[in-house]
Amino acid sequence: MTTLLNTKSLTNYINGEWISVNNTTSVINPATGEEIVQVSLSDKEHVDAAVRAAKEAQKRWAHVPAPQRAEVLYKVGNILKERKEELSQLLTMENGKVLEEARGEVQEAIDMAFYMAGEGRRLFGQTTPSELKDKFAMSVRVPVGVVGIITPWNFPIAIASWKSFPAIVAGNAVIWKPATETPIMAYELTKIFEEAGLPKGVLNLVYGSGSTVGKAMVHHPDIRVISFTGSNEVGRQVAGECGRQLKKVSLEMGGKNAVIVMEDADLDLAADGIIWSAFGTSGQRCTACSRVIVHEKVKAALEERLLKKMEELTIGNGLDESVKVGPIINRQGLEKIKKYIEIGKQEGAKLLAGGYELTDGQYKNGYYFAPTLFTDAKVDMRIAQEEIFGPVVSLIPVKSFEEAIEVNNSVTYGLSSGIFTQDVNRVFKAQRDLDTGIVYVNAGTIGAEIHLPFGGTKGTGNGHRDSGVQALDVFTEWRAVYVDFSGKLQRAQIDIEE
Ligand code: UN1
Repeated sequence: MTTLLNTKSLTNYINGEWISVNNTTSVINPATGEEIVQVSLSDKEHVDAAVRAAKEAQKRWAHVPAPQRAEVLYKVGNILKERKEELSQLLTMENGKVLEEARGEVQEAIDMAFYMAGEGRRLFGQTTPSELKDKFAMSVRVPVGVVGIITPWNFPIAIASWKSFPAIVAGNAVIWKPATETPIMAYELTKIFEEAGLPKGVLNLVYGSGSTVGKAMVHHPDIRVISFTGSNEVGRQVAGECGRQLKKVSLEMGGKNAVIVMEDADLDLAADGIIWSAFGTSGQRCTACSRVIVHEKVKAALEERLLKKMEELTIGNGLDESVKVGPIINRQGLEKIKKYIEIGKQEGAKLLAGGYELTDGQYKNGYYFAPTLFTDAKVDMRIAQEEIFGPVVSLIPVKSFEEAIEVNNSVTYGLSSGIFTQDVNRVFKAQRDLDTGIVYVNAGTIGAEIHLPFGGTKGTGNGHRDSGVQALDVFTEWRAVYVDFSGKLQRAQIDIEE
């Protein structure tokens, strides 16, 4: 157990009480294979208890003025800021991402706290004229009620902040199931909410598997929204069940993101952008670059630069400040990556670097994979179509700008894309024609900021957005309010003056 953590076992937090359950499992540091802590594995009954508490708490919370609700978030933001370094170290230990990136992720949660706290004084609706005399019309946002959030292991505090902060400031109560691999950030954030004075029952943490706890949340009739980030396969199941129940559901399910490098690009800059986007977080971002669509004229020059920069990447335990690429989350993740390396070779893509697991010396007990570069991939190959979620990137040569756009848009996902070019006309065409929710110009595919909408088109999601003011749409209903101050019956559409 690390001295940074003040407990040996992470338990549920229901109605303001930390409650242990019988079943637990180990939380493993992916860099070392060592157990950090135990975490509860809950059952349906724990979800039921959490929902009962949340329902009660939500009635009161919804009546607290939003600027006061926001005060809790300001406090959360300040505590996160004070504890940034310690939280970042814990995040590196449970998730594996290198310390510099962990600090960036905690910063993302800090930014989200202050941004959403500001929404407490906005939560804008609209006023609009009525068609009748002496009648007032407006639309206001109202909380949905009890909402369920299901968060992934790759951004355990940032994505939790994208979902829980808007939900809470808008007056909902939350049931939160974090990924079993990364429960520590959930514990810490919940403790921080407690310290910030969030009333009991407004945030309830239920640890456990997707197949038990996640399923119970999705099926619970009193959870009126599910916000889910995770795999496409599970997301579709969640959407199916929510659809049957007419439950609102917001999904973010990954990507097959590409960087386009045109013949007029600054190739050193492009290589830097690709390296950061492909190998940062060991490629385990929804936004990771896993395809490079390169104009054939600069393919060789780009390959050369990428290979050189890849040699400089140090791989290891993310707590070591000199390390640039940390481990893969677990054995299962590693095996999936290995499977795709074989698929890529069989499909006829050319392996230029990497392609193997690191197993000796400092890598022995952790889960490490060498940054990998394929070239001469074809648009329809599985390595160029399917999400690998690892440090693997494939170059696809093209002959023109138009072909580059077409290749970018050929996948079932639509999260993020980047283009490197000096041509302003191409920049504007690309931002119009790239079919992704996020487009970068002269930058890689990662680095979304919290005050803009995060999400994607096609198989990435179902039209909702995490973060940005748009996140409020997931956690609020629109109510149209009419106030007639004429003192007499006025019939809409009928008692109008001709
Ligand atoms: C994710 O990959 O699931 O833009 C989230 C980025 C980060 C968030 C990534 N700000 O890469």
